Amino acid sequence: MRLTGRIAVVTGASQGIGAATALTLARRGSVVVLVARSAEALESVVQRVQGFGGRAVAVPADLTDVDAIGTLAERVLGEFGAPDVLVNNAGAGRWLFLDDTPAAELDAMTALPFSAALHVTRSFLPAMRSRGAGRVVNVNSPVSRMPIPGATGYAASRYALRGLTAALRQDLRGTGVGVSEVVPGKVSSAYFRNNPGAEERIPLVARLIPTVTPERVAEEIARAVERGRDEVVFPWQLKAFDLTNRVLPGVVSYLTWRTGTHR
Ligand SMILES: NC(=O)c1ccc[n+]([C@@H]2O[C@H](COP(=O)([O-])OP(=O)(O)OC[C@H]3O[C@@H](n4cnc5c(N)ncnc54)[C@H](OP(=O)(O)O)[C@@H]3O)[C@@H](O)[C@H]2O)c1
Repeated sequence: MRLTGRIAVVTGASQGIGAATALTLARRGSVVVLVARSAEALESVVQRVQGFGGRAVAVPADLTDVDAIGTLAERVLGEFGAPDVLVNNAGAGRWLFLDDTPAAELDAMTALPFSAALHVTRSFLPAMRSRGAGRVVNVNSPVSRMPIPGATGYAASRYALRGLTAALRQDLRGTGVGVSEVVPGKVSSAYFRNNPGAEERIPLVARLIPTVTPERVAEEIARAVERGRDEVVFPWQLKAFDLTNRVLPGVVSYLTWRTGTHR
């Protein structure tokens, strides 16, 4: 799908991967709808888009609130109609062992990215289906396929997002609406500052995978939409781990455990 003249909704667009994605899609000619909680940070991304003559609108919303998602969808559908592209990117969550995680924080980890993607997609799906074209992109973590020790709630939410991606792809087969999963390795966003205690838990073996920039992730997302690609795992070193994991899951599991966090 060409991105010129499309309507793209990007969640978690106030910073990091989401902000870079909004800028990239806008540079390719899409009108971008930016969603996150921080109105001020969203507005500064809108201004950057307008700075190069692009079109963007900020719709602040807390995606842990299902009612707020309903209001967001109503506004977007009313003002723009069905989105051509929906990027479910908003995410957060510290890396903690299950029994070290306060119950409320565990609920928050489930709410985002998983439940947010579930409800946001559900809200836009009827309109996207009836138009018979479009693409949903779910941004996921390598932990969605290779769990590491000491990040139970985080991993469960990413596995659930992966399940949603696969199930939705089956549901939408033949409708003209595609589903992509974009899985980068470590990204040089503020994620690890925003979620303290996680970075130290990256297993030593995973540190062989180079860090990528949010702009690189944005480029991969744009390309996944343009080429209709279902799954993009990168950089190639992560792809190699992923492929090894499919053939020899016990080896990857042992290495991530052996070189990961213990208590
Ligand atoms: N960074 C990495 O190394 C990496 C690698 C692979 C995958 N990922 C995944 O990619 C996604 C984005 O990560 P990132 O690196 O861009 O993180 P980030 O820089 O921390 O950005 C997270 C985004 O999510 C938004 N957000 C958080 N809570 C929200 C809520 N309740 N409602 C609406 N928006 C909310 C934040 O905006 P507000 O705070 O303004 O709401 C922000 O825009 C995450 O799911 C992460 O797991 C990250």
